[in-house]
Order: sequence, then C-alpha cells, then structure tokens
Amino acid sequence: MIPLLYGLLCFCVLGCGQLASGQADDGKRYICRAVPLSGDASCPVTLLPELNTGSQEEELRNTVMQLRETILQQKETISKQLGTINELTTKLSLCASATDDRNYKGGSWGKEKQNTMGDVPRDPNDTIDSLGKTMQGLKDRLENLEQQQMRANISGAAFPSEFRDLLQRRLGELEKQLLKKVSNLEEEKSMLSNATAAYRLKTESTLNALVERISELEKGGGDFKSPEMFKVSLPQRTNYLYGRITKSLPEMYAFTLCMWIKSSASPGIGTPFSYGVPGQANEIVLIEWGNNPIELLINDKVAQLPLEVRDGRWHHICVAWTTRDGQWEAYQDGGKLGTGDNLAAWHPIKPGGVIILGQEQDVVGGRFDAGQAFVGELSQVNIWDRVLKPAEIQSMANCSSYIPGNVISWLASNVEVFGRGAFKRPLEMCVERLPNA
Ligand SMILES: *[C@@H]1O[C@H](CO)[C@@H](O)[C@H](O)[C@H]1NC(C)=O
Ligand SMILES: *[C@@H]1O[C@H](CO)[C@@H](O)[C@H](O)[C@H]1NC(C)=O
Ligand SMILES: *[C@@H]1O[C@H](CO)[C@@H](O)[C@H](O)[C@H]1NC(C)=O
Ligand SMILES: *[C@@H]1O[C@H](CO)[C@@H](O)[C@H](O)[C@H]1NC(C)=O
Repeated sequence: MIPLLYGLLCFCVLGCGQLASGQADDGKRYICRAVPLSGDASCPVTLLPELNTGSQEEELRNTVMQLRETILQQKETISKQLGTINELTTKLSLCASATDDRNYKGGSWGKEKQNTMGDVPRDPNDTIDSLGKTMQGLKDRLENLEQQQMRANISGAAFPSEFRDLLQRRLGELEKQLLKKVSNLEEEKSMLSNATAAYRLKTESTLNALVERISELEKGGGDFKSPEMFKVSLPQRTNYLYGRITKSLPEMYAFTLCMWIKSSASPGIGTPFSYGVPGQANEIVLIEWGNNPIELLINDKVAQLPLEVRDGRWHHICVAWTTRDGQWEAYQDGGKLGTGDNLAAWHPIKPGGVIILGQEQDVVGGRFDAGQAFVGELSQVNIWDRVLKPAEIQSMANCSSYIPGNVISWLASNVEVFGRGAFKRPLEMCVERLPNA
C-alpha cells in the first residue's frame, strides 16, 4: 500500500482523485509530474480519515523533494558566484599588468580604458538577492510542514500511531538536515558576498590607479614621441579650460604666428590665441566670434582674415605681420589667402605679456569669457620675430618640414593646460593632418 518513501530523482505521486475515489489496488495508476519550485503541491491537504494518510505522506515527500531541489539549485548559484570571483581575479591581474605596462602608444590608452571600464563585472547583488529569496522560500516551506504536522496532530486519532511516529521522526530528521543546510548556505553566502565586495573594492582601486596614470600621461607631457608631437585639447566651451605658454614675447617689429588647428564649433571657433600685456589685453588676438570671419587683432586694431577652418579637420594656418605700414598676410594649408595693410602700423609688439591658448583675456592672464572660448584642438603653435617666406610656410603645411619658432617654440615643457577636461595628447602624424588625408 505505501509506495517507496524516498524516491530521489524522478518521483511519482498517486493521483488524488484516484485515491479519494477508493479504486482497487491493482487498478491504481501512478502519474509522474514535475512540481514547480514555488507552486503549492496540487494535492490539497485534506485530512480525511484513513484515506488521507497516503496523501499526507505524498505531500510531505513532495515537499522534501522540492526542498532538495532548492538546495541543489542554491549549490549551483554558489558555484556560479565562485565563477564570478574567478573572473574578477583574472580581470584584476589583467588590470594590474596593464598598469605596469608603461609603453604608451599614441592614443591607445583611451580605448583600453573604455574596454576595462566596460568589463566591470555585473553587480553580484542580483545573485545574492535571489539566493536570499530562495532561502526565504525554503524557510516558508519548513513552516508549512510544521503546520501540517500540527493539523495532523489535531486529527491525530485518525492515524495509526506507529505510522504517525515514523512520519514524525523522519520529518524531524529532515528538518534538522535542512536547517543545517540553510545555515551552511547562509554562511557561504555571507563569505561570498564579503569576498565579492572585497574584490570589487580592489578592482575599483586598480581602475582608479589606471585612470590616474592615464590622466597623468595626458596632462604631464613627458612621454610624447618627440617634444613637438602633442596637441592641446579643449573639448568644451567654458571659461576655465585653456592652455598657457610659459614663455613670453620680446619686443617685436614683425612676427609670424603659425599653428595647426581643428575645430567644428559653431557659430565661431572662438579664440585659439591671445596675447595680453599690461595696459593692452588685446595685444595680439586671433578670434572667430559669432558669425564673423576669423579676425586678427593687434593692439586692439582689427583685420578680417579670409580663413575658414570650422570643418572639424586639421588645418595649418599662419598670420604674418610687420610694423612697417601694418602689413599682414594670412595663410591656410600652405596657400596665401589674403593680405592687407594699416593694421596697427608702426606699433611695436610689447614684451612681457601672457600667451593664452583657447581663451580671450580681458585682463592679462584672466577674466575669460566662455562665449569667446575656443573649442577644439591646437598644436605646433610657433612664433617667429620675422615674416616667414611663402615656401617656408608651404613646406610646413605640406609636411615636408617642421620649423620650430625662434621666439616661441612648441614644446610640451613650454605649455601648461588648465581645467578638468583640458589635456595634452599625442598629435596625429603630419600626413594624417593633411586636408586630403
Ligand atoms: C549592493 O547592495 C549593497 C547593500 O545592500 C548596497 O549598498 C549597494 O548600493 C548595492 N549595489 C548596487 C550596485 O546596487
Ligand atoms: C504532535 O503530537 C506529538 C505527540 O502527540 C508531539 O510530540 C508533537 O510535538 C506534536 N507536534 C506538533 C507539531 O505539535
Ligand atoms: C562578512 O563581513 C561582515 C561585516 O563586514 C562580518 O560581520 C562577517 O563576519 C563577515 N563574514 C565572513 C564569513 O567573513
Ligand atoms: C611642399 O612645399 C615645398 C615648398 O613649396 C615644396 O618644395 C615641396 O615640393 C612640397 N612637397 C610636397 C610633397 O608637396
């Protein structure tokens, strides 16, 4: 009459209906079915005298099987968590070796950084949460079991006493085992969550060190391929991102100012270059403001230049000026696009001021206006105290030569950047900057 008590893998329950209808033994059919983890057993506990003994037992057995199933699943979850930790460890050692790798190859840091950040393991909270929920389910089931036992006690007279004792002994044993499992699992869970948290902390600190090193590389400037192969990057229109050239200008009666420039800002690119001296903040200024063309200001006098660089590509531009009649020339990509005169004629450029890249000065070295800030990248800003020949300018613009300025020469040690977001970065090769590249 009593089927095998503890079938382990697949289990069969007696259909309730058949039992209740009291069919003959040889007419019984066994139905094999899966019991959902969270679902109630489909046979309600109806404590009918005599006949419910079997179904009560089935019920208990089902519950036990479900609990067993749950525990197996929890074990799996835990081994998954261990997997996550191993994964984290591997990543940490990768991070660590990346930090040690000092071979900085132009521009590749940015990508590596992104990848590393992207790989930060998914939050282990999910796993721990679900483990917690499963555990709660387990406890609820145990309580149910106890209640059933209690109800069985109330109508205890209906059970044959030896059978009831047997059931209760077994139940007691099972309960003990299950509680032990649960407490083991709780402990493991706490250890795992501690370990996961510790690993996460370690990962974060390693990543921070990595990010710091990258910023150092970008700001510091010692590590470029050659001293002039860097650019200043000013990605936002602010009044606090700028570059400063640490040298000043001598008194000059002529000059040429050249630079590589890249911007797609609108309406105007802003102020890539300004030189202010005490008493004249606009001693030399290159500015594209609103919808005006690029302008050259000398001693606050203005010439409009026929230059157009606002296409997001690199351009080589030069302006040359001499005090004699205030003659000026404007070059773009090696070609002389415009000339004029009477720009601050007979005015000598005053010495001892401050050169700012990316901001317009309202007082020497300060009072910047975000509306006039340059947005984009600048490189190889060089200044000569003479008017360069067209062939010299062309050969720089077509990458066949590089001539450092004789009064200001583009060197990482001569250029400081200010503001979070302003960087010195490696410069693309000259041929990659050409307009048809
Ligand atoms: C993970 O859980 C802890 C503790 O409950 C909480 O402080 C933390 O914010 C959670 N992390 C995330 C990413 O949800
Ligand atoms: C059921 O009754 C037995 C004895 O009759 C007792 O030992 C046991 O603790 C009772 N169980 C519950 C859950 O009340
Ligand atoms: C996990 O950390 C908590 C507090 O940080 C501590 O109380 C607990 O004992 C730790 N568990 C293990 C298993 O180390
Ligand atoms: C670059 O310009 C210089 C000066 O005009 C010229 O001599 C040279 O041939 C040019 N080189 C190329 C590759 O165009």
